[in-house]
Amino acid sequence: MSLEEILIERIRGTGPLTIAEYMEQALAHPEHGYYMRGDPFGVSGDFVTAPEVSQMFGELLGLWAGVAWMTAGSPETINLVELGPGRGTLMADMLRAAPLVDGFSDAVEVHLVETSPALQEIQQQKLEAANVVWHRAFADVPEGPLIVIANEFLDALPIEQYFHAGDFWCPRMVDIKPDGDGLCFVLLPPFDQPELPPGLIDAPADVMVEVCPAALDISEDIARRIADHGGAALFVDYGHGQSAPGETLQAVKNHNFHDPLVDPGTADLTAHVDFGALAQRVFASGARALGPVTQGDFLTTLGIVERAEILRKNATPEQAEDIAQALKRLVDPEEMGGLFKVMAVTALEAPPLPGFD
Ligand SMILES: C[S@@+](CC[C@H](N)C(=O)[O-])C[C@H]1O[C@@H](n2cnc3c(N)ncnc32)[C@H](O)[C@@H]1O
Repeated sequence: MSLEEILIERIRGTGPLTIAEYMEQALAHPEHGYYMRGDPFGVSGDFVTAPEVSQMFGELLGLWAGVAWMTAGSPETINLVELGPGRGTLMADMLRAAPLVDGFSDAVEVHLVETSPALQEIQQQKLEAANVVWHRAFADVPEGPLIVIANEFLDALPIEQYFHAGDFWCPRMVDIKPDGDGLCFVLLPPFDQPELPPGLIDAPADVMVEVCPAALDISEDIARRIADHGGAALFVDYGHGQSAPGETLQAVKNHNFHDPLVDPGTADLTAHVDFGALAQRVFASGARALGPVTQGDFLTTLGIVERAEILRKNATPEQAEDIAQALKRLVDPEEMGGLFKVMAVTALEAPPLPGFD
């Protein structure tokens, strides 16, 4: 059976699925889920992420993590946690840069949070020289000082959608098409007042809003741990700085947009991250949110232009051109540099970290 057939059977039995239930099945169904099936990265896959564009991205994040460790008082051991590590490229590049910060490499214990067995296998090969512990959920990472890095992770967490029909909020669900052939969106009558971020409660009528309870919960847990034990977190993703109405659920397949309800499990499903709601939850949990700033500004402040210049000095003309292209892609406001935002979490009393001055 295809995942679509499995979901249709389930809806016939128990009724329409929430958008979050649908996303969870499409991305993480044990057999057919998008991330369970293998490696979706690269030119021959569905999308390319920043660490796959250039080693410069991970190297600069590795140095940022080293400074965050020093700022937290250089604890003897620190959990370096990556959420959704993909191919393991970002962590490999970060660990290569870590020795440049005196004492940081010796303090680091690496924890990767990954749900996909196929991607975990690729990470194991890429990081075989490092001492790594894998977890299926962030809650399983041991307590203690920590630095959390998440690039294009929060956008993969399941969202809920609600349509504001004036006095009511109607949940949007996934149902079977009237002719029985495939899936469609439907609005249900309101049955409960949804829990919305403060910035969405006063949204005008006739708009759709999105909430990501999983992202809010994980940012609360991270903020609480940073407040209790010290450390920092860095979230890099596409999204908006302030909570705003609008529908951003999208599917991507072979580098093109795809209908989110067609052939579930074969396309990446994401939604924009509401950094405003995350920041609000971080402050409410006793820590401080910095930013978001654009990825372009963040990487430029960290010295990506200078790093590219150094790499170009030892490169062939062809490699030098690749480095220039990668730099443009990562920092140009019209490309990933403007589309992606970076937010940090620190302890309340900690000084600002690089990139957020
Ligand atoms: C778009 S990829 C980003 C990969 C990597 N961070 C990068 O920049 O190349 C999303 C990653 O998050 C993982 N993932 C998705 N949902 C997850 C969840 N609920 N818990 C843990 N990992 C998850 C996927 O398996 C994948 O490794």
